[in-house]
Amino acid sequence: MNTEYNAGIIGVGSYVPEKVITNKDIEKMVETSEEWIVTRTGIHQRCIANGDIYASDLATQAALNALNDAGKKPEEIDMIIVATITPDMFTPSVACLVQHAIGAKNAIAFDINAACSGFIYGINIANQFIKTGNCKNILVIGAETLSKITDWQDRNTCILFGDGAGAVIVSTVETPYGILSTHVGSDGSLGNVLTAPLLKVTEEEQAKRRVDNARTIWMDGSEVFKFAVKIMEQATRTVVEDIGLTVQDIDVIIPHQANIRIVDGAAKRLKFNKENIFTNLKKYGNMSAASIPVAVDEAVKSGMLKKDDVVVMVGFGGGLTWGSTVMKWKN
Ligand code: UT7
Repeated sequence: MNTEYNAGIIGVGSYVPEKVITNKDIEKMVETSEEWIVTRTGIHQRCIANGDIYASDLATQAALNALNDAGKKPEEIDMIIVATITPDMFTPSVACLVQHAIGAKNAIAFDINAACSGFIYGINIANQFIKTGNCKNILVIGAETLSKITDWQDRNTCILFGDGAGAVIVSTVETPYGILSTHVGSDGSLGNVLTAPLLKVTEEEQAKRRVDNARTIWMDGSEVFKFAVKIMEQATRTVVEDIGLTVQDIDVIIPHQANIRIVDGAAKRLKFNKENIFTNLKKYGNMSAASIPVAVDEAVKSGMLKKDDVVVMVGFGGGLTWGSTVMKWKN
């Protein structure tokens, strides 16, 4: 039997922790200035999960908000995919913790790690399962507590990251709405420019990183920056051209929220009006896998992303990885 269904987002929700760290606060931790952070990144503040708040706590709240938005009950969810690089623990997965917390007893649940591209990877997976008819309702979440793996003495990285979670419900939708195309890619040969080791690394490696606690994030910022601007352009073009559209057919772009200069650089290369690119990194910094779904939620709530819009979500991150998806927005 040839069963091909159409997948799309029918509900969105997000949640960020209450505690805020401003650039002024960071001035007291490392040698930096509010002015440097704002002009070089566009970030003004970030939300931080206090000691006993974990990724699953943020993910659960975002999931409940998305279920509410979609008008779905937890029992109707067949699959939970959580994209994260900061899980509460090795096992159970954040997805299983969320399953238990919300009572999604009919779901299968698992985590994926594609760093900041993780949410797009999750959408890509969900799309396959809905299209084949294997699942009807899938909860895709991006959730991070990056503050727990940030080296708060490293000014190259500690100014950038924040904590939060965003969630969507992917279900069958009628044409012409829903996911029109997805594109994901990885290049492990570039993995060493952005790392967060799980296990203890050698002394030589620690010396190279100039940090004591080698389990924290380390990044060659300018290498990631150059890669990011190029891949944002390429991934956006690839996904729209795949369905015979051009960049000019896009109504709204929701990019990974890493640095306003990356967004501006990609917009320039795409010759795309910056006014139609949603950003909220000013308030949250870079929330890795959570950044795109939180931005989607806020773009909908602010009225920028509306029914019938052609929207592209595009991201890049550790791995290195990248991904994009184009949708005709339904809800
Ligand atoms: O989600 C994916 C993960 N990451 C990213 O997307 C990040 C991508 N990269 C970036 O956003 C930027 O590369 C950064 C914001 C990390 C750095 O900005 P940059 O314009 O590339 O600066 P830089 O690394 O080239 O450093 C320029 C100068 C250096 O000083 P010298 O060597 O020129 O004297 C740095 O030491 O700025 C210095 N610097 C700082 N100064 C004040 C670096 N960090 C800071 C700081 N405050 N926080």
